[in-house]
Amino acid sequence: MQYVAFEGVDGAGKTTVATLVAAALIRDGLDVVMVREPGGTAIGEAVREILLGARESMMARTEALLFAAARTQLAAEVIEPALARGAFVLSDRTVYSSLAYQGGGRGLGVASVREPNMWGLGSVWPDLVILLEVDPEAGLSREDSSDRISSEGLALMQEVAETYRGLADAEPGRFRRIDAARDIELVVSECLDVIEAAL
Ligand code: TMP
Repeated sequence: MQYVAFEGVDGAGKTTVATLVAAALIRDGLDVVMVREPGGTAIGEAVREILLGARESMMARTEALLFAAARTQLAAEVIEPALARGAFVLSDRTVYSSLAYQGGGRGLGVASVREPNMWGLGSVWPDLVILLEVDPEAGLSREDSSDRISSEGLALMQEVAETYRGLADAEPGRFRRIDAARDIELVVSECLDVIEAAL
């Protein structure tokens, strides 16, 4: 168990929680690599600009493939070598974001979106997915900056939240659901408990 994903709707607090969890694990002496998606490599960050900043309308399939492309680069360049040396990888979003946002939110279907990702990632797949759950409306209002996808509004985010719940139900061994509407210290300590239990 070395590859942990933080997932959730926009505004769930993933970035803050993941950063605090990483700091705690580093204090415990673990070799921790923290990454974010889309991004984490020069190519991935360039693809992120296109994905989140494009003004033109983008086909849902193009969007799904670009996320998968950025992720494939990150897996090969950063995650696989980190896992091979025994490091612990914490990721702010993973393939499960694509399943929830493009598969569910955009209506492409989870199974269809899984395909190109499996092709790109091979065995580089999260062992544990921590799903930070907040009410999608509260999440959107918590966001301090919106991007091309989060600015689409509540209906998309509700669909995303529902798809995440379905994914968690389908893979109970991999997913842990955490109520992220509570105090941040409590959320972080629960995440650490979940990780310790999985180790
Ligand atoms: P962020 O706000 O967590 O940095 O994520 C950027 C946006 O990209 C957010 O609205 C979620 C979205 N996204 C997808 O739609 N599919 C994906 O596969 C990933 C990684 C992110």
